[in-house]
Amino acid sequence: MVRRALAAALAAAAFSATALAAGVKSGPGNPCPKDTPCASQYGDCGVGAFCLGGCDPLFSHQLNSCVPNPTCKAGQYKLKTLDDVKSIDTYLGDASTINWQSQGKPVVYNDALLLTMAEGTVGTLLASTHYVWYGKICAKMTTSQGKGVVTAFIMMSDVRDEIDFEFVGVDINHAQTNYYSQGVTVYTHGENLTVSNGNTVEKVHEYCIDWKPDTLTWAIDGNTMRTLKRSDTWNGTANRFDYPQTPSRVMLSLWPAGLPSNEKGTIDWAGGQIDWNSAYMQNGYYYAMVQEVTVQCYDPPSGANIQGDKSYIYTDKAGTNNTVKITDDLIVLSSFYATGENPKEGASSVSSGAKPTKSIDTVPGGLTGGGNRGGEESSVPAGASATAAVSGGGAQPSASAAAGGQGFNQGGGGGNQGAGSSLEPGLGKMSGSAFAVVLAVLGLIAL
Ligand SMILES: *[C@@H]1O[C@H](CO)[C@@H](O)[C@H](O)[C@H]1NC(C)=O
Ligand SMILES: *[C@@H]1O[C@H](CO)[C@@H](O)[C@H](O)[C@H]1NC(C)=O
Ligand SMILES: *[C@@H]1O[C@H](CO)[C@@H](O)[C@H](O)[C@H]1NC(C)=O
Repeated sequence: MVRRALAAALAAAAFSATALAAGVKSGPGNPCPKDTPCASQYGDCGVGAFCLGGCDPLFSHQLNSCVPNPTCKAGQYKLKTLDDVKSIDTYLGDASTINWQSQGKPVVYNDALLLTMAEGTVGTLLASTHYVWYGKICAKMTTSQGKGVVTAFIMMSDVRDEIDFEFVGVDINHAQTNYYSQGVTVYTHGENLTVSNGNTVEKVHEYCIDWKPDTLTWAIDGNTMRTLKRSDTWNGTANRFDYPQTPSRVMLSLWPAGLPSNEKGTIDWAGGQIDWNSAYMQNGYYYAMVQEVTVQCYDPPSGANIQGDKSYIYTDKAGTNNTVKITDDLIVLSSFYATGENPKEGASSVSSGAKPTKSIDTVPGGLTGGGNRGGEESSVPAGASATAAVSGGGAQPSASAAAGGQGFNQGGGGGNQGAGSSLEPGLGKMSGSAFAVVLAVLGLIAL
C-alpha cells in the first residue's frame, strides 16, 4: 500500500514537472540539468535563489553550481527590526550586508521579531546568510501554542546534516531535540527536554546548541541537558559517523504540521489539526517570538583544508567533514537568472529589457527549516515532493512557485527532503510535507 502511494507520488511529481511547467526534479544519480543546475533541499532544480543558501551540492549539476557558503560570522544578533532581514526573493547572496534571509512573514513586535503563521500560509522561516562550521549558537525565544503548530530552532547544512530544537504547540513544557546525518531520518535519536521556570510560550528561554567536532550539547537557560558524542554515532552501514559535520545555517521557524493534507503521523505528533479560529492566534495569526540569536564561531577542525577564510565549499559528493574546503571564493549573483557556474547571467537584462524565453524557477518553493517531525513512521523518498507552493492550505498551483516567494512549502521534512540516501531503504515509509504536497498535486490532477 505504501509502495503504491510512493509510485503515485513519483508519478505526480513527474506529472507536475511537465504539466505544470514548474519544476525539473533531481534525485540520486539524476542531478539537475545544465540550464537549471541548482537543487533545492527538496530536489527541485532552478537558478537564482536555488543556488544560494540551502543549495544541495550533491544533487546539483556540478559542485560549483551552488555558490560558496559564507563562513561563520560571530555576533549577537538582536532582532529588533527587519533591517537585517531580506526576503529570499530579493536576496542575491551578499552576506556582507545582510545576516538573515526570510520566507513567509516576520513581523516586528516589542524589540523582537514574530514568526507569523496565518491561515492559508505555511508559516515563516528565518535563516542565517552565514554558515557555522562548529560553534555555539543560542536563541532567546518563545514558542507558539496550539494543536498542530510547531516552532523550531535548528542548524541545517546543505547536505542535510541537522541539529534540532523543536516545540510542538500542545506541549509547552518540553523541547524536543534530535540530530540527523545527511537527511537520513532516524527518529529514535530524539530526546525530550523539560523546560522549567515557566513554559515555552509565556517565558523567554535561551536555547543553546554547542556544536564541536567531537561533542554536541543542547542547553536550556544555561543548563546542559543533553550531550552527544561523535564517537557514539558510528554507522557501519554508511561507513561514517552519523554526526552533524558540515557547515550549517541557523534557522528559526514556525510551521503547520497539523494541516489536514499532512500525513497522519505528522498531525498526531503535532497534537492534531490546526484550529484556525484558536484563541492562541492574535491579529489573525499564530506566532513565535525571537528576541536574539548569538553565534560564537569555533576554529575550523584540525586537519581542515584551509585555503582562505571567506567561504565553505564541498570538494566531493561524499558530503562529509573531510570534503569541506575553506576558500576565499565568494559569489554574489548578478540576477535571479545567475548561478554559481554563471554568476553574471542576467546582469544586463534589465537595461536591455530582455526576458527569459521560457519559464524557469528562480526561487525555490520548497524550503527547509521546519526541522524534522518527531513521528515514528517517516522517511520521505527522494524526489517525491512536487514543486511546492501548493501546501499550506493555499490552493495555488505549483507553477506560481516560479514567480517567486509567495507560496512556499515548509514541511516536516527538514532533514529528509530529497535525500538520496533515504530513497532505497525508505521506500516503506513516507510522510510529512512532501506527502502533503503530493496530495495537493494529485488534487490538481483530479480537477
Ligand atoms: C517526546 O514527546 C512527544 C510528545 O510530544 C512524544 O511523541 C515522543 O515520543 C517523545 N519522545 C521521546 C524520545 O520520549
Ligand atoms: C546507517 O546508515 C544507513 C544508510 O544511510 C541508514 O539507512 C541507517 O538507518 C543508519 N543506521 C542507523 C542505526 O542510524
Ligand atoms: C572528520 O571526521 C573524522 C572522523 O570521522 C576525523 O577523524 C577527522 O579529523 C575529521 N576531519 C575534519 C577536517 O574535520
